[in-house]
Amino acid sequence: MDDKTQKLSLRREVGLVGAVSLIGGTMIGSGIFMSPQTVLSTIGSPGASLVVWACCGLLVILASFCYAELGTVIRESGGEYIYILRTSGPVVAFLLIFSSVLFVRPAGVAGIALSFAQYVVAPFYADCPPPVLLVKCVAAAAILLLATVNCLNVRFSMSVQVFFMAAKVLALAVIIIGGVVMLIRGNTGSFEDSFENTNVGINPIGIAFYQGLWSYDGWNNLNYVTEELKRPEVNLPRALIIAMSLVTGLYLLVNVSYLTVMTPKELMSSTAVAVTWGNKMFGSWGWIMSVAAALSAFGSLNGTFFSGGRVCFVAAREGHMPDILSMAHVHRLTPSPALIFTTVISLVVLIPGDFQSIVNYFSFTAWFFYGITLSGLVYLKIKKPELPRPYRVPIILPLLVILAAIFLVLAPIVDNPQIEYLYVTLFILSGIIVYVPFIHYKLCPGLLNKLTVFLQLFLQVAPAEKNL
Ligand code: ARG
Repeated sequence: MDDKTQKLSLRREVGLVGAVSLIGGTMIGSGIFMSPQTVLSTIGSPGASLVVWACCGLLVILASFCYAELGTVIRESGGEYIYILRTSGPVVAFLLIFSSVLFVRPAGVAGIALSFAQYVVAPFYADCPPPVLLVKCVAAAAILLLATVNCLNVRFSMSVQVFFMAAKVLALAVIIIGGVVMLIRGNTGSFEDSFENTNVGINPIGIAFYQGLWSYDGWNNLNYVTEELKRPEVNLPRALIIAMSLVTGLYLLVNVSYLTVMTPKELMSSTAVAVTWGNKMFGSWGWIMSVAAALSAFGSLNGTFFSGGRVCFVAAREGHMPDILSMAHVHRLTPSPALIFTTVISLVVLIPGDFQSIVNYFSFTAWFFYGITLSGLVYLKIKKPELPRPYRVPIILPLLVILAAIFLVLAPIVDNPQIEYLYVTLFILSGIIVYVPFIHYKLCPGLLNKLTVFLQLFLQVAPAEKNL
């Protein structure tokens, strides 16, 4: 089985095109169809909302340049986890993997699924917001369906990914072309006095960024699988540059189109912007946009499931995760235990969560760890200048991104403290309670043995080798 695993999934099989779609296919998902109205209503004016979208793009572009250097210096798969482990040490790395497995990834899944559900039901509730319970049930059904597909067959889920990537780029292109047509016809109302009513407080800026950055999240996806990338020293930086410029360009143009076709008021009051956009442009055919947005979210959800198993593999290899989460099905070669685990927690997050708050807590936690990861890069640059670096960035880049990350993490807390952010922080830190006895002192080493054996037999999974 191990031979087969290596042949199927652990060789260097991802080329440039695969790499670009791995990044772009996860980035373009729910956000660009959900967040524009929240960004606009939080920041107050169309001009400022475009500035926020552009700055979010710039920030992830800078961050991804830094990740290109990190990924070529530390060549192991695992993204933030492995970079933090190699620079800040095992405790912080454990906190990351703990929060990522128990919160960030499930929250990502739940957020995208909610947006999928919103778009599926939107055409049936043209004039009123759809019932929350219905939206949550549809979201849960999507999660269960994709979890099953990903447990059953790797190849099929990869085809799903490619098909949906094409669908979403097409949908965004339609929105952009529609916008250009309206602009040419002189529909520029939203852009007159475009900075009027801007909210310049720290909190609104922070929250607007959280919502915008959610749409860009996934930019770090390729760094999770560097061991499977062909010629990573060339393809990692290239894929990052291509995917980032493509997605940032598309997002900005789509936002211009939304603002051209709708007035800021219409945009803010819509629950599903692409549907409102479609209704205005295509009349009774508006539901087509709803289908496109749902497909886009579905594809990104699939990608999130697909890449999720990798980090568990790497963390289990370092002894930071229960073995069972890093195992793969003996015949199907899919990381089913990690998938099932993520599914269960995502369903739990779904019950109390709504899209906006899930996104805010997700961005808060994610940028906390992106900041720590990039301080690792600064450390490597200063302390280990001798390491071979096929690709390097000036030290000012990681420093700028770290400053932005500090702002992002502190902004919503300082200006308008909400108890939930304290809970999230306590949750991240609570990883220490698990780390000290079980990982550091290795108390009860056989604690999970029986359960692991039972689950191994029950799920028909075995340890999968990694490609070092
Ligand atoms: N950018 C995606 C969207 O707009 C969300 C990505 C969630 N994060 C992730 N690593 N999968 O839906």
